[in-house]
Amino acid sequence: MCGIVGYIGHKNATSILLDGLKRLEYRGYDSAGVALLENGDFRVFKEKGKIVEVEKLLSKKKIHSSIGIAHTRWATHGEPSKINAHPHLSFDKRIALVHNGIIENYRILKKNLQSKGFQSISDTDSEVLANLISYYYQNDLEEAVRRALKDINGTYGILVMAKDNPNMIIGARHGSPIVVGIGEKEMFVASDVSAIVTYTKSVIYLDDNEIVAVTQNEYRTTSLSAYTVEKDIQEIDWDIDDITKGGFDHYMLKEIHEQVDTVQNAFRGRLNWDEATAKLGGIPEEVFLTTERVIITACGTSYYSALVGEYLLEELAEIPTEVEYASEFRYRSPIIKKGTVVFVISQSGETADTLAALREAKRKGSKVYGITNVVGSTIARETDGGVYTHAGPEIGVASTKAFTSQITILLLIALSFARRRRMSHQRGLEILRNLVNLPHSIKQILENSNKLKQLAKKHAKSSNMLFLGRHINYPVALEGALKLKEISYIHAEGYPAAEMKHGPIALIDENMPVIVIATDSNILEKVISNIQEVKARKGRVIAIATEGNHSIQELCEDVFYVPKVLDIVSPILNVIPLQLFAYYVAVERGCEVDQPRNLAKSVTVE
Ligand code: M6R
Repeated sequence: MCGIVGYIGHKNATSILLDGLKRLEYRGYDSAGVALLENGDFRVFKEKGKIVEVEKLLSKKKIHSSIGIAHTRWATHGEPSKINAHPHLSFDKRIALVHNGIIENYRILKKNLQSKGFQSISDTDSEVLANLISYYYQNDLEEAVRRALKDINGTYGILVMAKDNPNMIIGARHGSPIVVGIGEKEMFVASDVSAIVTYTKSVIYLDDNEIVAVTQNEYRTTSLSAYTVEKDIQEIDWDIDDITKGGFDHYMLKEIHEQVDTVQNAFRGRLNWDEATAKLGGIPEEVFLTTERVIITACGTSYYSALVGEYLLEELAEIPTEVEYASEFRYRSPIIKKGTVVFVISQSGETADTLAALREAKRKGSKVYGITNVVGSTIARETDGGVYTHAGPEIGVASTKAFTSQITILLLIALSFARRRRMSHQRGLEILRNLVNLPHSIKQILENSNKLKQLAKKHAKSSNMLFLGRHINYPVALEGALKLKEISYIHAEGYPAAEMKHGPIALIDENMPVIVIATDSNILEKVISNIQEVKARKGRVIAIATEGNHSIQELCEDVFYVPKVLDIVSPILNVIPLQLFAYYVAVERGCEVDQPRNLAKSVTVE
């Protein structure tokens, strides 16, 4: 949560920081601010609302500074306001700080600092840390940060500057990511690489409890206890084009369209046609041979892809599989015995709850494998191995391409288990053939987007919607409802189609659009019966059906057709019309699609 960026070098810091903030805006957008050091004084500009508000403030000033830090906020402590926006200055104005995370013991620290003359003017926990650093600061900023961090409980990714030291930025991490970008006579520090990829591709990632002291020409990484830590420099393998809108009105729409390629990227180089299976180097052979039970844990959209994974692993490989919200798993004393393997799924690789679940599973002795998108992310680094989705940066707050890539990887994992245990060569080949046809089928769906646009227009004024699906498409119904809620603020519920009669059916009347996933499967007839139940109560059914199923039109107000694929592959296709429908409804309602209210892209707080 929150985006932070810092610059020290020989160029104008203002434009680099504003540019970085704009690329980080998806991490939080309720207020923003910039602190620059000019002629031995801090110049701080902050405002409630989006980054453009800070940009307006800065456009009226001429500032000559080549060192600064900046922040875009997703509020945890203290309402979104100018005063609570970062950067925070210490009471004596010697220290400027931006912080991503939560300081749990800030109340007691605040009280102690107040008794020493360090008042707080905001409601935030972060300002307390600025005061604490100032309290310890004599002439060694790194040491002052180190001492202050030893006093706090909680999580942080911070950047700190001192008024009397225009040659240094200190960064530190515990729980919230920090990456250092290495340039030519300039350095960048940020919460994620998207803020700095325009300027450099050589980066180092801090690990928890590490501090970096950055000057114009060098960086030094140490542990919290001041031991030197050697870090490997890594090269980012994507560039700025991957994080621009590329001619689309919104990132979300661009990312929906990218699925033609991203699904392919997920299986590219990972298909073994000779053996009719997948090649997944990040998961040891032993896992596929000896695992007796799988637990998958994740949050949000990644949790729904995990639910699809449960069907895949049980149906294809007959491995008992449980799926848990990471936020519940971590506090639930999960039973992990020999033979159990845990998978965590996270697009960002930084979700705090998922990370905590990973650590809990490891603490209990389990091997943990990850399905992540962001290379070098904390979850990717802390797992025992895993598979990258290679979907490229996902900027839209509403996750789309990550979902289809995760399911593709889960299918490859299930296939790998199944082929070593029970699945025939022929069935394996059938699945591979279906996989390689997916990009073509996705393209076909996207070419029919207009139909979904019209449907969105028709239903955009609704206050509620139901999404129904069964079996492996039940999680797709959940994901369709989540997409609509997130970006259009229409109340929507996903339900197993047959479960509807046990309660939600009471909601159905002539004003209730009910979107039913009714693609070909061996339970299609059952789904049709569920459609009849909705129809009998005057509900307005929109079906997602398989091409060629003409009879379904008689039952439904509208039908959107998708190409025919194996049932177990169908979630990858079926979710795409739901993503597009949610997108067009949100646009129709004038909502801010890429930055829905109250949300942020990656939730790095508990
Ligand atoms: O980065 P992660 O996959 O760990 O994120 C998990 C959720 O926070 C995320 O999927 C969230 O639910 C999205 N806003 C869904 O669109």
